Amino acid sequence: PLNLIYLCISLYIIVNKQKYCSYSRNKLLLISFDGFRWDYDQDVDTPNLDQLALDGVKAKYITPPMLTMTSPSHFTTITGRWVEDHEVVHNMMFNSTTNLKVPHKQTLTRSEWWDNGVLPLWITAQNQGLKTASFHYPGGGANYSGQSVNRVLVEESNHPDDNETEWRQNIDQVMSWFSEEDFHLVTLYYGEPDNVGHAKGPDHPDRKKIIQQIDRTIGYLREAMSRHHLNDRLNVIITSDHGMTTVKKRPQVDEIIIRDYLNLLKLTSFEILDYGGFGIVTPRPGREQEVFDALSNAPNLTVYKKSQIPESFHLGKSERLPPIVIIADLGFNLNSRLIVYVNKGDHGFHNGEMDMKTIFRAFGPDFKSNFLSEPFDSIHIYPLMCELLQIDPAPHNGSLVVTKNLLLQSGGSQRTRLSLALLPLSMLLMFTVL
Ligand SMILES: *[C@@H]1O[C@H](CO)[C@@H](O)[C@H](O)[C@H]1NC(C)=O
Ligand SMILES: *[C@@H]1O[C@H](CO)[C@@H](O)[C@H](O)[C@H]1NC(C)=O
Ligand SMILES: *[C@@H]1O[C@H](CO)[C@@H](O)[C@H](O)[C@H]1NC(C)=O
Ligand SMILES: *[C@@H]1O[C@H](CO)[C@@H](O)[C@H](O)[C@H]1NC(C)=O
Ligand SMILES: *[C@@H]1O[C@H](CO)[C@@H](O)[C@H](O)[C@H]1NC(C)=O
Ligand SMILES: [Zn+2]
Repeated sequence: PLNLIYLCISLYIIVNKQKYCSYSRNKLLLISFDGFRWDYDQDVDTPNLDQLALDGVKAKYITPPMLTMTSPSHFTTITGRWVEDHEVVHNMMFNSTTNLKVPHKQTLTRSEWWDNGVLPLWITAQNQGLKTASFHYPGGGANYSGQSVNRVLVEESNHPDDNETEWRQNIDQVMSWFSEEDFHLVTLYYGEPDNVGHAKGPDHPDRKKIIQQIDRTIGYLREAMSRHHLNDRLNVIITSDHGMTTVKKRPQVDEIIIRDYLNLLKLTSFEILDYGGFGIVTPRPGREQEVFDALSNAPNLTVYKKSQIPESFHLGKSERLPPIVIIADLGFNLNSRLIVYVNKGDHGFHNGEMDMKTIFRAFGPDFKSNFLSEPFDSIHIYPLMCELLQIDPAPHNGSLVVTKNLLLQSGGSQRTRLSLALLPLSMLLMFTVL
């Protein structure tokens, strides 16, 4: 009878080796709520986010890369590379020679904008045998060295940002990818609260309403995870790309009009202005110093020659950025010729400004519970995700040292090694018995 018991145990372990051996890697869901400023949950009732802080990890805030914009920042999260390396240097795709400008939504399937030799996590994971999907996440719709993400949904240009019914359907969809189709990694993107932050400003009551909608959606996510029996196999990271600040307007301030300081027609051949707090300008040949000097005299902004951008910005090595970069002081929009700017809130400002800081929350089998983390840079999310998925990271600029204290001691590779020992042991047992 003892032999029979041994046999049963051995068979059980072998049959369930997915649970105990290296296959026991847990799945990962990365959710981004665009433009979720770090403190948006502090002036509104958020029971589900509060519960998450008890059940998982919360960072006081995190710092996005310089270029606090949707595409650059999301691509830093999914590649672990600075913007100067991955070269997605704006939400718009542009070519300063041809004067081409492509709006953000239309860039989402333009591989030539995203594929610059840096591999995002989806592709790196797929190359190591995992199955990945991108649901509306910026960059997911492009091909990288000819490879596409296993399953991709790209946001349509007329996609409504705030339809709660659709938000829940998207969660149901993602849950079935994990539970029925065995996906390992899914990235899920929502366009709020960025949309309402731009339209109404971060202090508007409608922003608080959207935060409550997000909170309900997180409650729905947790229900859906239980329904799909994913609680002990799925890690979830909830983060965002940047914060939001109120746009300063007359009569509170004199708004910036670049043309008042710089003869745009005479001195420049290309520019992207009128796009929040970040501007780029290509001087006409031989006119760089004149452009720089003119902008240096403009108030409420800082102008940089690309060659002199502080190293800490991690922007200067970019080949795509034009020779002149402008960063407005917090809340000032860089208007070019006229003020046609309707946004009440915006971003694109220096990532050191508290209003540009954003959120990081995580929970699941590999995360500590009730753990409040000190702030960190979003670039360190990438090595954390690789550790959770138990894959070798591509070259990156993050450091696991910064984020591994969010994980349980027994998490990740350590447990793998322990459990791997179980397989030969059970084989041995079985052969002894036989
Ligand atoms: C911009 O367009 C020109 C002319 O078509 C082309 O030669 C150049 O490679 C393009 N630049 C970039 C950065 O794509
Ligand atoms: C990606 O590659 C596939 C196969 O070559 C092609 O059908 C698809 O159009 C490409 N997608 C993009 C966004 O370039
Ligand atoms: C919201 O989404 C649901 C499900 O996709 C759809 O049936 C409904 O018409 C949408 N509502 C609006 C106002 O767009
Ligand atoms: C903007 O610049 C003006 C002129 O230098 C200065 O007086 C003002 O204080 C600045 N505004 C802010 C909000 O920094
Ligand atoms: C970022 O990582 C890449 C790839 O390892 C490396 O080439 C680059 O020098 C790094 N950047 C910085 C600022 O360390
Ligand atoms: Zn935005």
